[in-house]
This record gives sequence, structure tokens and C-alpha cells, in this order.
Amino acid sequence: MADTTKGPASPADIASPTIYLDGIPHEGFAAIREVDGLVWHPYGDQGDRSGFWAVTRHADVREVSKSPDVFSSAIGHTNLWDLEADALEARRSLIDSDAPDHTRLRRVVSKAFTPRTTRNWEGMARDIAAELVEDFVADGGGDWVGKVAAPLPIKVILAILGVPTEDADYMVELTNYLVEGTGEGTSLPDDAYGNTTPTRLLPFNSPASHALYEYAEKMRQLRMAEPGEDLVTGLLEAEADGERLTAAEYRNFFQLLVFAGNETTRTAMIHGAMALAEHPDEWARLQADPSLVVRAVDEVIRWASPILHMRRTASRDTELAGTPIAAGDKVVMWYAGANRDPEAFDDPYRFDVGREDNPHYAFGGGGPHFCLGAFLARMEIQVLLEEMLARDVVLAPGSAPERLASNFVHGVSSVELAVA
Ligand code: HEM
Repeated sequence: MADTTKGPASPADIASPTIYLDGIPHEGFAAIREVDGLVWHPYGDQGDRSGFWAVTRHADVREVSKSPDVFSSAIGHTNLWDLEADALEARRSLIDSDAPDHTRLRRVVSKAFTPRTTRNWEGMARDIAAELVEDFVADGGGDWVGKVAAPLPIKVILAILGVPTEDADYMVELTNYLVEGTGEGTSLPDDAYGNTTPTRLLPFNSPASHALYEYAEKMRQLRMAEPGEDLVTGLLEAEADGERLTAAEYRNFFQLLVFAGNETTRTAMIHGAMALAEHPDEWARLQADPSLVVRAVDEVIRWASPILHMRRTASRDTELAGTPIAAGDKVVMWYAGANRDPEAFDDPYRFDVGREDNPHYAFGGGGPHFCLGAFLARMEIQVLLEEMLARDVVLAPGSAPERLASNFVHGVSSVELAVA
């Protein structure tokens, strides 16, 4: 690797989006985990500051996650590429903020995602899952992404937000374009969806973000005129420290929730179904003992590692795993690496629906940014598995998955599964 200015060169490329067309480069992650200390991984084209320290061990991901004062989310951008100050400001949301802003913003939404509130959505999620599974079986299988894994989470998050279900396909279309922006760039022209904002100011550099902003504004006007019981009304009415959300905070929140509530859980459901189709013995274990379903949910999420990484920026000179890190250096936590670390998991490459000790970091390594929707995601995956168990659905492999060229979402755009 070319850029070795800051530390030992990474023995493997884990950042090029196209690598992920063949799946997570687990051998590369293993090679990096085995190097003492941290390795420096080149990325981008801005000289020696354009790379990052690759954090791939479980314990190191925890340390970065739990030290937000040293490893900041607000100074840089939490995705891999660098942004100019105005672009960072225009896009800033909960995920790119530090305390006290983060604490204030998180308080606005945290009540909507507690275990208790989440249980209120379970019946709705179960009805949607049951219908999708029944249709899938009636069709004799097909594209699991389009028929089950994409519609279920988007319908649930839209219901929570109060967005009409008939717009679900449009929301999936837009967020798919956002994921594309994390890979080799958007396929959309800059003026798609009537966009006139320079794309560098838009989340994921994508004109689809403009469309989501417009949609958020439409919802804002609707709910200002007619408040409902939904989360959009909640966001608009929320007062944190005596202040309402600004217009930019509201629309970035809306966009974050539509994206995060949808692409991630979908990805877990895809890799989970693929794993169950490939490991019929593990599905048979679940059928024989459905009480394993709670463990199976977390194993599906560990296995999938839907979000591959989050980045932080060192706010001061520090040290991690014995490696000195300078203020301003980028530090990237690779959950995909931590989730196969043999120091944290027995037999990490085994898909084990009964895994007892499963401290996976697919939702982050702890600390203030730990996934807001973790209970919701777990609930959705659990009802899906339960509705499949209730109908004795047995999945079998079909086509090879069409994977995405993204180093951020472990995405699959389609995969045929059969019903055995
Ligand atoms: C299996 C599904 C999911 C996975 C794997 C996942 C993963 C993650 C990860 C890795 C983070 C960053 C953690 C950190 O920086 O420490 C995160 C944050 C977040 N997630 Fe999730 N997520 C999932 C589902 C959801 C759902 C359903 C929602 C819906 C509301 C959601 C909303 C968020 C939000 C708003 C944040 C930012 C939290 C903050 O910065 O305080 N996620 N998620």
C-alpha cells in the first residue's frame, strides 16, 4: 500500500467499495487484527492525512466507542471521506455530533425507541411480516430482498414516523440511492428530483437527499396543520433545553431515521435468511426449540454486520492499542472485523443460532452513539423469524446474491431464495 506515512501499512485493503462485491474481506480483517498495535490504511487523495487508523479488534472498538471526548463524531465526518466545513455543517445530524448537542438531540427521540415503546409496534410489525412471508411462500420463493427484507423495515419505520405506507417504495428508492453514494458514487444526475443544491452539501453526496428533504418538508407542513400521534409530530413538537429543533436539524433527523431504520435492518434480514438457507441444520435447531429465537436474532445481526464501520476523529494526541495517534487523525471502527474477533467469540466464523455469549458490536461498541433503533431492529427480526417458524417455512439457496459496491453497508440488492 502506498501511504505509510503514519504507521505500519495495512496488510489488506478493507476500504475499496468494490472489494465488497465479493462479500466482507474476512481474511483481510484477520490479517489486520493480527498486527500488533494499529495499522494505517490509505484512503482518498489528500496526502498523508487522507488515510485512517484501522480499528478491527473487539476491545479496541469498545475503547474508541466509549471515549467520545477523545474520539469525536463532530470534528470530522463519521463516514470515510472528508468534508469541507460548510458541507459538514449542512449535513450534520445526531450521528455527526458530540455532547452537549448530541445529548440534546438524542433526548428528542430516545423515548420513541425504548423497549416499552417498541413493544407497542410489535403487533403491526408482526402483521406485516406474516403477510410478506405468506406471499413469499405462495409465490414459491423469489427475490427475498424485494419481497420480504426491504418492505418489512421500511413499512415499520414509516408507520412510526407517520408517513403514508403508499410512499414506501419511493422511500426505498431514495435510500437505495443514498447507499450508492457510499460506494463508487451516485448514478443520478446532479439535477435529479429537481435538485439545485451542490451535491457536496447533501448527505451521501446524493440528489436523492434533496428529495428526502423535500419529503420531510411536505410532512412538516402536513403535521403542523394536523398533528398526529406519530414521530414526525413528536420531532416538530419536541423541545430540548427549551428550544425546538431547527429546520436543518428536523430534516436531517427525518433523513437519518428513514435511512437507518430501513437499510440496516433489511441487510440483517437478508444475510440472516441467506445463512438459514445455507445452514438448514441451524434452522432445524430453531424449529425444534423456538425459545432459541432471541439468541438467533443477535446471531443474525452479528453474522450480517450490516453497518461495516463508523469513523471518529482524534480531538487530541492520544494512544490506542499502544499506537500513538495525533490530534486530527482519523480512526475507523470496523464492526465487521470486531464481530469475528476470536478474542471475543468462540468459533467466530460459525453461524450458531444458539450462541450463548454474543457481545457483538453490530450496533456499535457502546457509548453515546449506540444504535438508537437496536430494540426496534431486534423486535422486527424476531417477529420475522417467529412468523416463518409458525408457518414451517424452510428456505433453500437460489441464486448468488447481487452485492453492493459499498464499504459502509454490507448490502445485497437481490437474492433469489427457494422455499424447500
Ligand atoms: C440491524 C439493524 C441495525 C444496525 C446493524 C444498526 C447499526 C448502527 C450503528 C453501527 C450505529 C452507530 C453506533 C456508534 O457510532 O456507536 C447506529 C446508530 C444509529 N442507529 Fe442503528 N442500526 C440498526 C437499526 C436501526 C433502526 C431500526 C433505527 C431506527 C430508528 C436506527 C437508528 C439509528 C440512529 C438514529 C443512530 C444514531 C445514534 C446516535 O448517533 O446517537 N438503527 N446504528
